[in-house]
Amino acid sequence: MKYGRQIYPTRTLRKRSLIKTGWWNGEKINFPGGGTHFHYGADKYIVALARMLKFPNDKLHNGGNVRNVLDVGCGVASFGAYLLAHDIIAMSIAPNDVHENQIQFALERGIPSTLGVLGTKRLPFPSRSFELAHCSRCRIDWLQRDGILLLELDRLLRPGGYFAYSSPEAYAHDPENRRIWNAMHDLLKRMCWRVVVRKDQTVIWAKPTSNSCFLKREPGTQPPLCSIDDDPDASWNVHMKACISPYSSKMHKGRGSGLVPWPQRLTEAPPRLEEIGVSAEEFHEDTRIWQFRVSEYWKQMKSIVRKNYFRNVMDMNSNLGGFGAALKDTDVWVMNVSPVNQSSRLKIIYDRGLIGTVHDWCEAFSTYPRIMIFFMPGNITKMRSMIGFRGSTN
Ligand SMILES: C[S@@+](CC[C@H](N)C(=O)[O-])C[C@H]1O[C@@H](n2cnc3c(N)ncnc32)[C@H](O)[C@@H]1O
Repeated sequence: MKYGRQIYPTRTLRKRSLIKTGWWNGEKINFPGGGTHFHYGADKYIVALARMLKFPNDKLHNGGNVRNVLDVGCGVASFGAYLLAHDIIAMSIAPNDVHENQIQFALERGIPSTLGVLGTKRLPFPSRSFELAHCSRCRIDWLQRDGILLLELDRLLRPGGYFAYSSPEAYAHDPENRRIWNAMHDLLKRMCWRVVVRKDQTVIWAKPTSNSCFLKREPGTQPPLCSIDDDPDASWNVHMKACISPYSSKMHKGRGSGLVPWPQRLTEAPPRLEEIGVSAEEFHEDTRIWQFRVSEYWKQMKSIVRKNYFRNVMDMNSNLGGFGAALKDTDVWVMNVSPVNQSSRLKIIYDRGLIGTVHDWCEAFSTYPRIMIFFMPGNITKMRSMIGFRGSTN
């Protein structure tokens, strides 16, 4: 694992880790091999998941077909950190709750992550963005409010997407955990998810690839399908709904949204371009322009920038993700931000195998200070008047 095994932390984090974790050795913070769930290390856990799914050569990327992962309740994001070596990028999310500053740890480790909570509002990501959702001991009550949080995962998973759940409810035999397991199993069955495999401490479900199972449900079965005018891609300040987002004829239904495997998907025009009215030619032109610009940027900056200086990069106006795509072979990760009036473009970014979020730049971006070390405003003059936070490199 390359990123985040040991870090020289900022002064604030150093103080916090000293008090909270005991990971501080006087010079650096040493992270343990994984999170609370990964007894033998996150690397072995990742191989175990691939084995359970019977993926070739025990590789969780499954030939490039698993690329975007959502890790909910990520802790300090060790799962996401170890996935990077597998060419898988995780959007690791957790709130600032009793596990204080976990996302600050993750970001200072250089691991893609953001503050986020499965609560009342939709996560700021488009529908069908992730091939795998993951929760290990995330202590989320999945049964609350008619399964609304599982329905949010359902919205975010691609057709045929997996949910890997490693938590006592999946394996413990005491009456309370049995009750929760039975209720979850029943709810997910009504949502047409199927158990792919259940082994040791983990269960993996898969979301259906078509509407056929919904059509076979008894009338009145809960949860209901969302109404036809619900836009599953609307995610900024939208309250979650306790309903299933069915596939429409407009939406691409095939397994994995009909995408080619990573890394080809980075530069291939994805089927959902059609939904935002952008042609394949425009997409390829954008890719070419950004490849040229980025290579020029690096040439100009080489002499003034220290090696390995950049890691957490934010593109504040990411359009089709061309800037992030052009950085593929560098040692950075990019948080692509689609301003709210362009939020429909974020699905293209996910379909390329990149990650990002929607944001309204009239508001402050909810993160820790001095975390992102490079910003790439698309329209700098307009952005300057709208920015709700400042970037700094110290
Ligand atoms: C015990 S830690 C597990 C961390 C990590 N998954 C691991 O296995 O090491 C529980 C995590 O779930 C997060 N969490 C709890 N409720 C959540 C919610 N509603 N949405 C997102 N994360 C949540 C906590 O903040 C914390 O990161």
